[in-house]
Amino acid sequence: MQNIKGSRELLTRINPFRVMTVMQRARELEASGRQIVHMEVGEPDFATAEPIIAAGKQALDDHRTQYTPAPGIPQLRDAIAAFYARRYGVEVSRERILITPGASGGLTLLANLLVSPGDGVLLSDPAYPCVRNFIQLMNAEPQLVPVGLEHNFQPTPALLQAYVRPNSSGIWLASPSNPTGTILERDRLAAICAWGKANGLHLLVDEIYHGLHYVDDLPSALQLDPDVFVVNSFSKYFGMTGWRLGWIVVPEEFIGFANILAQNLYISASSIAQYAALAAFTDEAMAIFEQRRQAFRERRDFLSNALRDMGFLLSENIQGAFYIYADISRFSADCEKFCHDILENHGVAITPGTDFGDYRSKSFVRIAFTTGMENLQLGVARLQSALG
Ligand SMILES: Cc1ncc(COP(=O)(O)O)c(C=O)c1O
Repeated sequence: MQNIKGSRELLTRINPFRVMTVMQRARELEASGRQIVHMEVGEPDFATAEPIIAAGKQALDDHRTQYTPAPGIPQLRDAIAAFYARRYGVEVSRERILITPGASGGLTLLANLLVSPGDGVLLSDPAYPCVRNFIQLMNAEPQLVPVGLEHNFQPTPALLQAYVRPNSSGIWLASPSNPTGTILERDRLAAICAWGKANGLHLLVDEIYHGLHYVDDLPSALQLDPDVFVVNSFSKYFGMTGWRLGWIVVPEEFIGFANILAQNLYISASSIAQYAALAAFTDEAMAIFEQRRQAFRERRDFLSNALRDMGFLLSENIQGAFYIYADISRFSADCEKFCHDILENHGVAITPGTDFGDYRSKSFVRIAFTTGMENLQLGVARLQSALG
């Protein structure tokens, strides 16, 4: 490597995403003629819904190919505001909504907005791994709060109290969570909002898996507290991963700074994707998303029952997203070895828990139900034969 000055030390703190290694190895095995069941992938297997595709084509025909305003086109911001009113009964002004290049772009913007060098940010362990790295890249400290099955894999105010430090400046959570599929129930989320306020910490809630939930009550943090920062995306429920489109909601007093950051970090999100996403809020598209949610629910039921029967330990209720975080301690003390063996010898790709944190992570794997029922049945049969 060239001997150049720079922040190489900082980069050494950024971990690679192990699931990518699993995916790459699965592809190599496929290229050599093996048939692999993919239960590692973190995106819906469904193509983008037809009304969105049609709107995307129309956007191209209409030459919607130039930069948009940095916070996004007004029509899409209004459609999202109307969506909050309809689905959650909460009023969010257009100005508080900024369209971003995926939730990833939103998280990058919010890291720059909210986190200073030397700050600490409380995160649950396990959590979506990139979040830890966004904090590291700000030269700040991820402060991991271990959460287990006994906590439904989500923090409580008491746990946060135990891990808060004098330099803590915020709390970043996700509900439903990747990798655990568990949610912050209304009471607990309200208690965390109150605890954060009392301690002078900002609260960010990643709601990217909203819509893909299997419980009756999944509160948006915006219903409980207008001062929270919310991240969402068109990737998961709306099935638009490759379009790279998401949004954030910020409190009134941060609108100006958030706009300046958007202008500087990415100028605007994709114009074509924004015009296409307008069709996501039509009745026709919503009906498709709801059918897909039902398909995910059936997969969840099948897979969670099958895994329990085999001896995996998991949450009683996978409440959202499309992941099961399963304790493999009956079979192995080393999830990376376990995943390697299951892939190489049995042709099923799953993700080691060590991708998502430190807390007991060697005893966990993440199994995704982002593939059809037939494949899931095959995957389960292969796991059964692997585990005797
Ligand atoms: C919890 C969570 N947040 C954010 C993202 C990033 O999503 P995107 O940038 O595609 O919107 C993901 C992707 O898997 C995720 O699981």
